[in-house]
Amino acid sequence: MSLEVIILAAGKGTRMYSDLPKVLHPLAGQAMLTRVIEAAEATGADKIHVVTGFQSEMVRNHYQDSPYNDRIHWVEQTEQLGTGHAVSQALPAVDPDNQVLVLYGDVPLLEAETLTKLVAACGDSGIAVLTLDTANPAGLGRIVRNNKGDITEIVEEKDANIEQKTITEINTGIMAFSAAKLKAWLEKTNTNNAQGEYYLTDTVAMACADGLKVSSLTTEDEDSVQGVNNRLQLAELERRLQRKQAEQIASNGTTVLNLDRVEIRGHTTFGKDVVIDINVILEGDNHIGDRVRIGPNTVIKNSRIGSDTCIEAFSHLEDCEIQLACQIGPYARLRPGTVLCDKAKIGNFVETKKTVIGKGSKVNHLSYIGDAQVDEAANVGAGTITCNYDGVNKYKTHIKSNAFIGSNTALVAPVTVGMGATTGAGSVITSDIPDGQLAIGRGKQRNIPNWKRPTKKTD
Ligand code: UD1
Ligand code: CA
Repeated sequence: MSLEVIILAAGKGTRMYSDLPKVLHPLAGQAMLTRVIEAAEATGADKIHVVTGFQSEMVRNHYQDSPYNDRIHWVEQTEQLGTGHAVSQALPAVDPDNQVLVLYGDVPLLEAETLTKLVAACGDSGIAVLTLDTANPAGLGRIVRNNKGDITEIVEEKDANIEQKTITEINTGIMAFSAAKLKAWLEKTNTNNAQGEYYLTDTVAMACADGLKVSSLTTEDEDSVQGVNNRLQLAELERRLQRKQAEQIASNGTTVLNLDRVEIRGHTTFGKDVVIDINVILEGDNHIGDRVRIGPNTVIKNSRIGSDTCIEAFSHLEDCEIQLACQIGPYARLRPGTVLCDKAKIGNFVETKKTVIGKGSKVNHLSYIGDAQVDEAANVGAGTITCNYDGVNKYKTHIKSNAFIGSNTALVAPVTVGMGATTGAGSVITSDIPDGQLAIGRGKQRNIPNWKRPTKKTD
């Protein structure tokens, strides 16, 4: 007997007021549905079925190039006739000997451990419900228990009587079943209720009618079962999740100067004694090495930062590999394909792209270095530009070790600056410079004596 997960994601998400399907809205940088799929994966599920309906195409396309796509069995629910109907659409592909776990695509912070416990609780009875005691049960299905404390049914708010509405134990929507029993029960559901829908929750009363004891598991962690119906709820969940992540990295040994002003959107790992100043955004997959200091208002996306590197304020790094003890910023922009070798230095208002900066080399001020290879211990002067693009094609610049590029040099690629070569300030370099030579490529200065400045004309 193995586990199959059915994720419901066909709903319209009307209250998001969005062209984007609700389940694709990101929470901490990841689509809500992706988080649910990851939770499903973490339970060790054998198969994952995702039921889509509203903007199906868009949802499926989102996963086309993802590693999950091969794992997902997509199911179409053309009309949204209720949670019971949605699950029924997936059941023909489910092995009756297996267990089924039902999740919602808009409940993004599920904990795999809780899910695994719920599935285990399902056991002999073949049905288990994840419940929550909450101060705000409004709008949710209430768990009705008899005087022995056994669950007898789940009543939707719209179908509930006054007494049932006072119940504070609610259905999170997460349920586990034996597939065979679920099939039998769903075949018997009807739409005789306030919403005219097929309710998945009706299976509970049916199990009781079959003389079975409905198992339940109550979670204490409200956020982990919180559904998102509008952007306010999404924003609130985002804040709570960010705070929790910040607390987690702080507990694990990172100095976070303000727990409410660091954003982790994706997966970042940290070495020892990292210091993070305020308004730092870590996006995608990053690794931050030991003793790295990240200055305020810095964005780091899909990058590896080597130990002892210091990134000063207002820097932006994407798809970069930063080796040991580099110095970056303030106001540096390191674009995809930038590699800084040990002890390289990138100063203020410097942009790099597809460029390797060799060990100990420096580009300290106001430069654009793209499609370039800078070898070791070179000094690239202020205002140096690699002219890498002729409007159609891109070309490479190679600056060899110990070269000294004078201020405001334009390096018209393809071009190579030899080892230990020098360029005069303001040069436009269009041909290769042999090792050790000085290249000057600019108009000569003339000093004109007795020059009279123009005077203001009067009419
Ligand atoms: C459902 C539960 C309720 C529970 C609540 C928790 C039922 C009848 N009610 O109510 O007991 O307290 O969730 O949030 O199950 N969906 C489909 N196809 C459909 C209908 C829904 O895929 O035809 C999906 C939605 O996209 C959503 C999820 O199922 O992800 C829940 O649907 P929703 O309409 O939000 O259910 P609730 O009325 O909130
Ligand atoms: Ca809902």
